[in-house]
Amino acid sequence: MKVPFLDLKAQFTPIRTEVMAAIGAVCEEQGFILGQRVAGLEKALAEFIGCSYSVGVASGSDALLLSLMAIGVKPGDEVITAPFTFFATAGSVSRLHATPVFVDIKPDTFNIDPGQLEEKISSRTKAIVPVHLFGQCAEMEKITEVANQRGIKVVEDACQAIGAARHGVKAGALGHTGCISFFPTKNLGGVGDGGLITTSDEGLRDLLLALRVHGSRSDYHHDHIGINSRLDAIQATVLHVKLGFLNQWNQQRRENAGRYTQLFEEAGLLDRVTPPWIDPANLHVFNQYTIRAHKRDQLMTHLRDHDIGHKVYYPVPLHLQECYQPLGYQKGDFPVAERMAQEALSLPIYPELTDAHLTCVVDTIRDFYTSHSLVS
Ligand SMILES: Cc1ncc(COP(=O)(O)O)c(C=O)c1O
Repeated sequence: MKVPFLDLKAQFTPIRTEVMAAIGAVCEEQGFILGQRVAGLEKALAEFIGCSYSVGVASGSDALLLSLMAIGVKPGDEVITAPFTFFATAGSVSRLHATPVFVDIKPDTFNIDPGQLEEKISSRTKAIVPVHLFGQCAEMEKITEVANQRGIKVVEDACQAIGAARHGVKAGALGHTGCISFFPTKNLGGVGDGGLITTSDEGLRDLLLALRVHGSRSDYHHDHIGINSRLDAIQATVLHVKLGFLNQWNQQRRENAGRYTQLFEEAGLLDRVTPPWIDPANLHVFNQYTIRAHKRDQLMTHLRDHDIGHKVYYPVPLHLQECYQPLGYQKGDFPVAERMAQEALSLPIYPELTDAHLTCVVDTIRDFYTSHSLVS
């Protein structure tokens, strides 16, 4: 049986009529940029996340960039984040000519280790950007405590975590701003690029509204130097339709994750495969189901040969990326992130997977380890 890593057509088919009608309505209106449909989505998402405001932008990457601009990150400032994340988390810092300062992650959640934060704070630290990796929140209460004591702002990279929560508070409502991505592979994915910034700070919201339209509060008058980063009406209307299904989809992802973990246990594979650990304070939304696997690269070859979708997030931690060599980091600086880059393997987790798919994935993994222990 073939199991694709992701099957967006399986999600689209049952909602095709509603999605196509929504897109058709925008085409009839011929109003494509911002406007009432974007404002409606912003209101609905602020309510869903439990914050006062949200601001639609062109991508999750821009949500990070604009958040950092809005809190006043300037050349020479430092911004603390994790080295085990998508590039945009640190890239947005560098684009402002500020310096990303990395703090290693914890092996159980793949999230930034708050115990190592304080030693990295300097007089130039302007912000901390915790990433809620794979759909599970970082330990925000510890991070915000350290940040608040020093007047440092916290920008959540919640790009993979829409609907996730910590102690009952949703991702995006835990920091000064939260950044969401609507990239099509995300739990709430658009029909193209899109992003959102959440905040409960009215001043930040007003500034963000200006910064996304070149710093303008009224046509052709520019109080700030902003960028062009607008959410479009087709994205907004499709996302609004899909928002109605998000809780159900997130629940199906959690159920799939629970089933995988049960199947790994039943197959006696827990000495070869470490399923994701869920911090009891967290509601996980499993944008990815990421195991740590013994002999990962050989397992990947076996999965590829058997048509089982899989992906490595992330093969190279950010401190070892070519473009960050000038920062002076060395191999060995962040041992946990480096180990995870060798061991982490994401398996198909999308809501529409059937039990037969999940069983097939685990059976194929079991066959790999069985044949491997026979020959080794
Ligand atoms: C952790 C993280 N941060 C930032 C982003 C950037 O989002 P986008 O692709 O919408 O620019 C992504 C998405 O790929 C992500 O996974």
